[in-house]
Amino acid sequence: MSTGDVTLRTMSEADLPGVLRLEEVLFPEDSWSEEMLRAELADQPRTRHYVVAQEAGGELVGYAGLAAAGGQADVQTIGVLPGRQGSGIGAALLTELLDEAARRGSEAVFLEVRADNDRARLLYERFGFQRVGLRKRYYQPSGVDAIVMRRVLATARPIGFSREGQTP
Ligand SMILES: CC(C)(COP(=O)(O)OP(=O)(O)OC[C@H]1O[C@@H](n2cnc3c(N)ncnc32)[C@H](O)[C@@H]1OP(=O)(O)O)[C@@H](O)C(=O)NCCC(=O)NCCS
Repeated sequence: MSTGDVTLRTMSEADLPGVLRLEEVLFPEDSWSEEMLRAELADQPRTRHYVVAQEAGGELVGYAGLAAAGGQADVQTIGVLPGRQGSGIGAALLTELLDEAARRGSEAVFLEVRADNDRARLLYERFGFQRVGLRKRYYQPSGVDAIVMRRVLATARPIGFSREGQTP
């Protein structure tokens, strides 16, 4: 899919240098190492789905990753280059992760967001995520709390539910 001149595609190992540069700019306090990202990609596509947002000129301007197993999915990470934030790329990345979670049959998607990250929290709320918990002093060394959010997917059906015999 594409947002203006930005295209979303599956992340590969060749993207790691660009993703790590973004990671350091976006999460200077607790950026993921190359080893952590490699470990995530090693489990793709089995339990992971990572995507990058790439400009027509080739520059990576965003990325996001999903972990999905046993009916539950988690947004592992999401970020957009500061100069390109506010133009819909984050929403496009999140849409892709939620679509993938639904394709994989996940019943709910969870994520953690820093309590001081209003911008990300607003985006998640707009996408139907609701606060379900708080992890005190989760982020170190800052000691900022993590808000746990969940979105139940529309595809989820109670066990035994059947539409047979019902009119739409
Ligand atoms: C959170 C983040 C991924 C959103 O990406 P984005 O490309 O800026 O998001 P979008 O342009 O799709 O905007 C989605 C929503 O973000 C909010 N938003 C966007 N621009 C904003 C701005 N300038 N000021 C405040 N909120 C803004 C709005 O709620 C917007 O909804 P709207 O389209 O109805 O206005 C991005 O801000 C980011 O990378 N932040 C730093 C890393 C981070 O915090 N990641 C999340 C960790 S949990």
